[in-house]
Parts: sequence; C-alpha cells; structure tokens
Amino acid sequence: MSSSPVDALKRAAAEAAASRVVSGMVVGLGTGSTAIHAVPALARRLRSGELQDIRAVATSYQSTMLARELGIRLVDLEEIERIDIAIDGADEVAPDLTLIKGGGGAQTREKIIAALAVDFTVVVDEAKLVDRLGSSRAVPVEVLPFAVAPVSRAIQRLGGQPELRMAVKKAGPVVTDQGNLLLDVRFTEISDPARLERDLKMIPGTLENGLFVGLARRVLVASLDQGVPRVRELLPPGTS
Ligand code: A5P
Repeated sequence: MSSSPVDALKRAAAEAAASRVVSGMVVGLGTGSTAIHAVPALARRLRSGELQDIRAVATSYQSTMLARELGIRLVDLEEIERIDIAIDGADEVAPDLTLIKGGGGAQTREKIIAALAVDFTVVVDEAKLVDRLGSSRAVPVEVLPFAVAPVSRAIQRLGGQPELRMAVKKAGPVVTDQGNLLLDVRFTEISDPARLERDLKMIPGTLENGLFVGLARRVLVASLDQGVPRVRELLPPGTS
C-alpha cells in the first residue's frame, strides 16, 4: 500500500473506525482505498488478543480477499440478522451526511450492508466534504447489461448525463462483482438526493445507485493538524 500524505489521512480515519469495534461484533467491511485500511487494523487487534470473536461481511472482492489473507472470519448474510458496525468510505459527504458512493463500483453490496448496520460509520479524508452532492462526482448506477440503452435514455429524461464506466487494464467496460455494468451519471444539480435515489431505483433494469440517504450514523473525517493526521467526528443534524 502507498504511504502518501493523503493515504496517511485515509488510514487514520479507517483506524479510528476500527478502534470502535469490540469483541463479538459483526462488522461490515467496506471497499475502496480508505475503508480497506480498517481490515489490517482489525487483523492486528485480533492477533494481539485485544479483540476476539469477530465475524465480518465483505462488500466486494477487494475486502473479501484481504480479509481472507489476514485471517478475519467472513460470514454470509444468511448467517447473521444484523451488522453491529459497517465501516466504509465515500466519494462525497454533504453537510447532512448524505453521500455519493460507488467510485469503486461496489455501491450495491455497500448499501445492503449499510442498511443492515446499526452503526454505519463512514471514513473519509477532508477532501470528500462538499457543500452539495454532485459538486465533484457523478452518481454511479449499477445496470443489468441487457438494459443499458433504455436505462440511459430514462436517466437522460431525469436530467442526468450517463457515461458507461470503462475498465483500466482490461478492454471494454467495468463489470461489477455481480456481473453488471456501471453508468456514471452527472447531474448539474442534486437538489433532492432522496427523491433522485428513488427515481433512479424505479427505472427497470437498475440495481442500486450511489446515493446514500439517511444511512450514515457518523462520518470520521481525517485532516492534517500541524502536519499530523487528526480525526474528527460528524454526526447527522439533530443528533448528539
Ligand atoms: C466503493 O464502491 C466506494 O463506495 C468507495 O467506498 C468510495 O468510492 C470511496 O473510495 P475511496 O476511499 O477509494 O476514495
């Protein structure tokens, strides 16, 4: 893993989230360059004996593979009824803690895990904080390959500009862990994220989209304080 200054911030946020895990918990393991740092942090705590009896649910091949490699016990959703804490990253975080996720294409499983989690803890560096969702990032939408053309037209009717996500180091489009395709959709303005989330979901042929509304219980934000990573906690408006 790289150790750039931004990576140090990502690691600080993820390690702060991993330190919230206690023995016996079921933990959702997120995806991306920030959340993935929580996996070795948990493995270290397990090895030292400080943590015991952790079961984890992974949101992608990325987190599955690292958890396996580091000896963290993975379970399927059939084996559990709830998740105590899920730790995941985000591409944008608005002041009300609505999110855009899916830069790594994993938003479908991520949303399932986040919705099952009692404590959905989001970990970011401060560059992810925005005044309004959609300011810097497109909204990823997972689509059945069969339906890409009609879904693209329906998205345009909602005012979005869809672009098929193309792979790097592989010819052709990105294929998700579920075998589907991804449309990254630009909107000039997202004034009502909850409504847009529903509207996108209602298009036949779409699975989950990257708008996460009302799910985050807290956001741990890492920033540099006199050259040292510092993590602060943001809570949803009206909570303390
Ligand atoms: C994965 O699909 C995403 O939702 C990530 O959690 C999100 O894109 C943040 O990724 P980074 O931590 O790599 O920026």
